[in-house]
Order: sequence, then C-alpha cells, then structure tokens
Amino acid sequence: MNERFRPAVLIVGAGAAGLATALRLAERTRVIVLSKGPIEGSSTNWAQGGIAAVMGANDSVRSHVRDTIQAGAGLCDEAMVQFVVERGPAAIQRLLDYGLAPDTRDADSGQFHLTREGGHSRRRVLHVADRTGQAMERVLAERADAHPNITLLPDRVAIDVITTGKLGRQPDRVAGAYVYNRATDAVELIGASFVVLATGGASKVYLYTSNPDGATGDGIAMAWRAGCRVGNMEFNQFHPTCLFHPHAKSFLISEAVRGEGAHLLLPNGERFMPRFDPRAELASRDIVARAIDHEMKRLGADCVYLDISHRPRAFIESSFPTIHARCLDFGIDITQEPIPVVPAAHYTCGGVIVDRHGATDVPGLYAIGETACTGLHGANRLASNSLLECMVLADSASEHIAASLDAARPALPKLKHWDESRVTDSDEGVVLSHNWDELRRFMWDYVGIVRTDKRLARARRRIDLLKQEVHDHYANHRVSNDLIELRNLLHVAELMVRCASSRRESRGLHYTLDFPAPLPHAAPSILHPAADPLDVLQPPARAARRSRAKS
Ligand code: FAD
Ligand code: SIN
Repeated sequence: MNERFRPAVLIVGAGAAGLATALRLAERTRVIVLSKGPIEGSSTNWAQGGIAAVMGANDSVRSHVRDTIQAGAGLCDEAMVQFVVERGPAAIQRLLDYGLAPDTRDADSGQFHLTREGGHSRRRVLHVADRTGQAMERVLAERADAHPNITLLPDRVAIDVITTGKLGRQPDRVAGAYVYNRATDAVELIGASFVVLATGGASKVYLYTSNPDGATGDGIAMAWRAGCRVGNMEFNQFHPTCLFHPHAKSFLISEAVRGEGAHLLLPNGERFMPRFDPRAELASRDIVARAIDHEMKRLGADCVYLDISHRPRAFIESSFPTIHARCLDFGIDITQEPIPVVPAAHYTCGGVIVDRHGATDVPGLYAIGETACTGLHGANRLASNSLLECMVLADSASEHIAASLDAARPALPKLKHWDESRVTDSDEGVVLSHNWDELRRFMWDYVGIVRTDKRLARARRRIDLLKQEVHDHYANHRVSNDLIELRNLLHVAELMVRCASSRRESRGLHYTLDFPAPLPHAAPSILHPAADPLDVLQPPARAARRSRAKS
C-alpha cells in the first residue's frame, strides 16, 4: 500500500484535547496530529476565562462536583463529574510541568489567582490574564513540535474515518482516515490502528458564534457516519456576552468580567439580572443568555450592555488586557463605558457518546474534548470545565490506548486510495457559500435560544433539502474544505434538530415554548446510527457509475 503515513495513532485535532493526548501517547508510540488550518486555529487558542479545578484551600471536590451538577440541570453523569473533578489538580500539574504559568495572587506567595465565573460557588478558575487558551495552546504545541514521536500536520482536513465495517469486513474496527491536504489539493490515505477525534465543537452551525471558523462539528459527523451513537445535541450553549459591533467577528467578552463584578444593563442603564435569578450576573449561562434574549426581544433592542467601569482602571487593564485592547480597537474604552453585548453560540455540550476513556462505539476510535459527550456537562456546561475535561480525558484516553498498543489486533486491511478519477472540479462555489449562509441563518432563527416544534420542523425540512443537494455535489465534484465542512455541518444540524425534537420538555440549554417546564425524570437524548444512503465512505457517484457499468 502506498500510504504516506502509517502511525499507530492518528489524532485529528490540535487543540488542548488533541495535543495533550499526543504528548501522553508519544511516551509510548509514534503519533500524527492533524489540524485543519494552522496549528493555532483551535477554540483552545481563543479561550479566555481559564480552567476550573479545585486548587484553593477554601474549595473542595464536593463543591465543584455540586456546581457542575447544578449547572447540568439533571443530566450530568455524576460518576463522570466525580472522575473529572477529582483528576483536575493532576491535570493542572501536568500543564504546569509543560510550562504553563497561571497568574498568581501576588509575586511573593506563588499562590494562584483564582477568578470566578457563572455557576461557580467559589473562586476556582486558574487563568493567564484573559488569554488562558492561547497560553495553553502555546505550551502544548511547542512541546509537541519538539517531540521526536509527534508529527504535526497543519492544513489537513480529515474527511472520514475508515472502518473495517465500511469496507465490508468484520469485526468492525477503525483502520485510518481519508484526509484532504489543503496545500496540495489532494486526498491522502492515513492508515492507523487507533484514531482519536479531537476536532472541537460545532457552534459554527449558527450565524452568530464566539468560535473560530473551523468549529464545524467534523468529528461528530465523522463518528456518526462511522457508526457511533451521538447524544445531547440539543444542548448547544449560547455564551451571554459576545461583543456587539458591526466589524467585530466572534469576539467574546469573558464571563470572568462578570466574575470580577461587571453588571448587565438594559439600554436605559437598568440592571436586570436580579429579576431573573438570585445569583444575578453569576447565574449559569443558560439562565443569563435566556434573560438577555428575553429582554432584547421585549424591548426590541439590538444588544444589552456589560459594565465593569466601576472597577479601578489599573485592575481592569491588568485583568483583561486582551478584552480592553480589542474593545479600544472598536472605540470602546471599557474602563469608562459599558460594552455592547449579545449572546452567541459558544459550546457543543452534546457529541459522540464515549466512556471515561474517550472510547466510542467503534473499537479503536476515540473522541475527546468538545467533540465528545462524556456526561460531564449534562444539559449545560459549567464555565471553564471544558479545558479541564480536555486535559483529564486526554490522560485517560491515552492510558487506555497505550494499554491496548501491545494487545493482539487484526492486521490493518489493505485500504483503497481516494478515487477522483470520475469527478470534476466544481464551478459552483457560489451554491456552497449560499447553502452555508442559509443553514447558519435558519439554525439561528429556528434552533436558537428559544425553540418551538414548528420552528424545529421547518429547520428539519430545510436541512433535508440541503443535505441532498450537498450530497449530490459531494458525489460529483472534487472535495474542498468548504464542501467537507458544509457536509459535516448539515449532518450535525440534523442531529441537533432530531435531539431537540425528541425532547418534550425544557431543560438546561434547551428551551421550547411548547413544553416550557422540565419533566420530572431527566434522560439524555441518544441517537443510534442507522443506515443512511447518503453516508458513504467514498463519493457515491463513482460507485453508482461502476455498478451501472457492470450491469
Ligand atoms: P479545539 O480547541 O477547538 O481544537 C479542535 C482542533 O481540531 C483544531 O486544531 C482544528 O483545526 C482541528 N480540526 C477540526 N476539524 C478537523 C478536521 N476535519 N480535520 C483535521 N483537523 C480538524 N473553555 C474553558 O474551559 N475555559 C475558557 O475560558 C473558555 N473560553 C472560551 C472562549 C472562546 C472564545 C471559545 C470559542 C471557547 C472557550 N472555551 C473555554 C471552550 C474551550 O475553549 C473549548 O471547548 C476547548 O478549547 C475545545 O478544545 P478541543 O481540543 O476539544 O477543540
Ligand atoms: C469565558 O471566558 O467566558 C469562557 C469560559 C468558558 O467558555 O468556559
């Protein structure tokens, strides 16, 4: 087989989850890590507030577990919450060993400064000013880049996971992936005994999002097509405070700003959160985002305002240097005036159903980080628990994979190269970009913060139409990054609508006017894969043409 690479482990994604897993596994084996664009193009790199863990003398595992479960609105897997929270301090220690330098309380004590965010009853969020993610991504990427057992491949977009099942062989097991190389425009075949999907979330399915462009749910769509269960996809978290400015694309105003005392105000200057929750601005995100949405709709306002200007200028500038500088770029001095903000899609709480090792339903295939649904977040993630989950599951997944490396496995089958002999270049880029816009707009309007059965049904009809159209395009044309992403987004949108339609209640992040109250018994929504004629490993036009030619 003329494969360019054949590592033992292929990791798809170079955010916190992918890189931390690579670093652990590299102690044992050769690893390849793919990133869709540049290595630093992850959500991790954009994370602001910090990473939650029990580090302070006034905190306890019990308290962090309780806050996580309360935010999760009845749907957290309590054993998983305990598992992740207990392992938090060890995960932080690993980051410190890699060179992360969180802010300290003062130069002498060496004790970490812990900030606070919504839903946390204590200060427990370690941070590097307001650019924690960038600092994490940097230390992890530098280490990975220097490691002899790790090959980082930027500009590689995984298209689909190859499984023996898809090749008609049993027992089913992962065998590698097809990967589009953006630099050469060619599709590469990478055979691997283990594949880890660490591709981040899917918030790009919405028109307004805090996420980078690559957050298109690729790992969730790939795992689904490979035969994995997916769950809780109706719980997409909307961050309450993204900067509202015509030229500011996706800029978050960290929850830590509220943690340090900022108030949410209506356009007339009135503070409104105390009317919605006794914790006011520090209620959990679902509550704050819904309250803002409610007030904006009630008043016909374009945005609300977040005001930290009552805190001392020096404190604001040193605590939030990135936010301060970015807002100044738009003519807003946050030390003097309130910041216009709106909610935006931020985090995918659902995903590929995995166990505590990140193992999916397909042997050899793992999913970790935002791609996965571990049960930690339930119906609403507690702020700053995501980076924590990435680090803890990176540990447990790599230990699980390392333990299986020596076990007897069937040899990888001979894999077919990607066949482009019968497809053409597309001259319809405009159709793709139109479909992208259409999807993201109706998902925002119909599957947003407030839903109804009718809106969900409308969204489903449009998804079905677009899915068929994009499938036809995929079957007949060479792949491109846009096409791969749109295909995945449509699969993810369908999973979101299916989960949302199956929930006959409002809970956590899922709020529907048709069933505004929660049911007495909370249950996750789990989708089981079923044969879908549109889910094929290689573009089907070729297969169809071949079978026509045979008959
Ligand atoms: P990501 O960091 O998103 O990385 C995904 C990787 O997968 C990227 O390298 C991408 O290129 C790659 N990829 C995707 N698809 C493919 C494909 N098909 N082929 C190849 N590669 C692919 N959480 C916190 O806990 N604390 C915070 O303070 C915080 N702040 C946030 C602020 C912002 C603005 C945002 C957007 C998120 C924030 N979050 C925060 C959430 C958190 O950052 C993410 O959930 C977390 O970083 C996800 O890490 P990950 O490794 O799972 O995915
Ligand atoms: C933020 O800084 O507000 C984001 C924190 C998170 O998403 O966990």
